[in-house]
Amino acid sequence: MPKSIEKIAVLTSGGDAPGMNAAIRAVVRSGVYYNKEVYAVYRGYQGLIEGDLERYNARMVSNIINRGGTILKTARSQEFRTVEGRRKAYENLQKYDIDALVVIGGDGSFRGMKIFAEEFDFPVIGIPATIDNDIRGTDYTIGFDTAANTAMEAIDKIRDTASSHDRLFFIEVMGRDAGFLATYAGLAGGAEDILIPEKNRGIDTLVQSLKRSKRSGKTSSIVVVAEGEKSGKNVFEIAKYVEEHLQEYEVRVVIIGHIQRGGCPSVFDRVLASRMGVMAVEALADGQFKKVVGFKSNDVILYPLEEAINEPKKINDNLIRIIPILTT
Ligand code: F6P
Repeated sequence: MPKSIEKIAVLTSGGDAPGMNAAIRAVVRSGVYYNKEVYAVYRGYQGLIEGDLERYNARMVSNIINRGGTILKTARSQEFRTVEGRRKAYENLQKYDIDALVVIGGDGSFRGMKIFAEEFDFPVIGIPATIDNDIRGTDYTIGFDTAANTAMEAIDKIRDTASSHDRLFFIEVMGRDAGFLATYAGLAGGAEDILIPEKNRGIDTLVQSLKRSKRSGKTSSIVVVAEGEKSGKNVFEIAKYVEEHLQEYEVRVVIIGHIQRGGCPSVFDRVLASRMGVMAVEALADGQFKKVVGFKSNDVILYPLEEAINEPKKINDNLIRIIPILTT
């Protein structure tokens, strides 16, 4: 019979995302509520390898629900990619007699968690937190809503200049290999076109559609480009190509960058993180391991870790379909 879960460790890993603190708070407080001992690990897997752990009580997570970033700090640990690194991490968990690990992070963190759980037969639960929203099996990841709003606000501001100067702006948003942020921020910001890695329509199609819209009376335009766009060109090269083939516009490029990762989390992200954190602890108490907490049809769910990382998450085709309709 598997050992009952009495001591839980929690860490944040990979890129920080707004709402991670709300998730840490929820894990710590629900752990205390269910009479578990909760240990916080600093600097993600790297801190686990170095034994950087501390016992947390409910008061140690006061006043953090509203804060961006992660109070536990985060890292992209290279050492955890090695068997030796993972063994050190396991030994530290053994040293503190910890029974289970909650990982708050994105795709890369979940892959590491899966290898670790299988190597050492260690109980784990993942809470998806990444501004990229690229984890399969959950409609939303913690941090995406806040980041999309930040990107949208930036687009709104750039629109003022675009329309005042009759310019064409290319705005690059984050999203390593995924176009969720670009699609949502672009749709919400009224972008003329959105270039995402999932759909490569070719740069000449973009030039033609910008020409058409110019002829139809548009005086300025915004094109949102996902960082991971796969046309083989970066945003500056795309902008240069378009400027050479569309002399009607003066072109500018803006990269929003890490601004999208910061700031206080939205209502949605705080509530999502709180619900997911509680669900993670309740799942462990219930003997459910190697699972991910997801969000579907307005409810938190549990699903197998494999499902989250085996295949890339797809963007709803209907979101992409309506973009040209709305920019007619
Ligand atoms: O995964 C989140 C993310 O912000 C991606 O969108 C981006 O490609 C990456 O992290 C940047 O990572 P770093 O901050 O380590 O440069």
